[in-house]
Amino acid sequence: MPHFSRRSFLHLSAAASAAAVLRGMSEPMLAAAARHRPPHAKDAVAIDSNENPLGPCQAARDAVAAIIPQGGRYADNLTDDLVSTLATMEGLNPAWIYCTAGSTPPLFMSVLAFTSPQKSYVTADPCFEAGMMMASTAGARVVKVPLTKTYAHDAKAMLPAISDPEAFYASNRNNPTATLRPPADIEYLAANKPKDSVVLVDEAYIHLTDMPSALDLVKAGKDVIVLRTFSKVYGMAGLRCGFVVARPDLLEKVLARGAQNFMPVTAVVAATASLNDSGLVAERRRINSTIRQQTFQWLDRNGYSYIPSESNCFMLDTKRPGKEVREAMAKENVLIGRTWPIMPTYVRITVGTQEEMERFQTAFQKVMKA
Ligand SMILES: Cc1ncc(COP(=O)(O)O)c(C=O)c1O
Repeated sequence: MPHFSRRSFLHLSAAASAAAVLRGMSEPMLAAAARHRPPHAKDAVAIDSNENPLGPCQAARDAVAAIIPQGGRYADNLTDDLVSTLATMEGLNPAWIYCTAGSTPPLFMSVLAFTSPQKSYVTADPCFEAGMMMASTAGARVVKVPLTKTYAHDAKAMLPAISDPEAFYASNRNNPTATLRPPADIEYLAANKPKDSVVLVDEAYIHLTDMPSALDLVKAGKDVIVLRTFSKVYGMAGLRCGFVVARPDLLEKVLARGAQNFMPVTAVVAATASLNDSGLVAERRRINSTIRQQTFQWLDRNGYSYIPSESNCFMLDTKRPGKEVREAMAKENVLIGRTWPIMPTYVRITVGTQEEMERFQTAFQKVMKA
């Protein structure tokens, strides 16, 4: 009888065991599995999970503090407030939006709803592994399409000759390469995919780019499902809030794949306050971009190669097995991100605070010169 504990995922080698794993793993679980030890090592610089070190904005913190006395209530009306705020901002019908604890749950549910041993899952490579792991669990064939030489998604290659209906996963910006999928590519997929298949557009990082959202395709009634999270630009990974937007018939199929429950009141009030903070996204983008550019300048000055990015992470080429570099960095108490089998010398680096990136630079220089 297999023994599963809350931390049993730590014994899995994240990317390598993707096909063998029997359940879904989220970004922090994948990051913790890659580092082979529990998440919060004391004093460590944690730039391995694409978190936002700034945390929730002040308005969100105030909203969380103010709601605590009502923590004994389910208060589902607060989620209605969040949904209606979102609907107004994005010009959506509230009935097409469903709030969840982060966007990993609706990603898993969507994959379960639209893949099976007869329905494949098509994704870029490298790409966020969570969906492909869940597709494997569902017994689906996972079709990985390598990125182009310029690390762009290859939309046309994602429409291989498979006659069965499929789910196409498109992450905008891609995790881990932080490269973009142009809107035309998503439109192309949506227009040319086999009938009855869906395009899953993961917009976890959409706020870090000027790229238009795929929400317009949802509004136009296409077979497109959009996933959003408050874990990235809004700094709410630990508070857990996200949502899925789709045509009601698609939404119903997605939601049929998971047990539903009310949202934590802390998460929904923080999310609503974050949305109402009009300057927040631009400010966070500016901070992320400044620190990222400074890091790139340092890498350039020191002759290191990386894939240019406009997101909160980038791929750094260590020119040696990335896993060894990651382990050596962990000994310096700097936790960097995992490698992907298709790019074994690259490690993913999350853009942290200025101080964290300075500690990263010191440790990286030491490891590379050892
Ligand atoms: C591409 C992508 N999608 C979704 C998520 C989900 O995050 P969460 O479950 O915290 O909303 C992540 C987290 O890193 C991600 O990188």
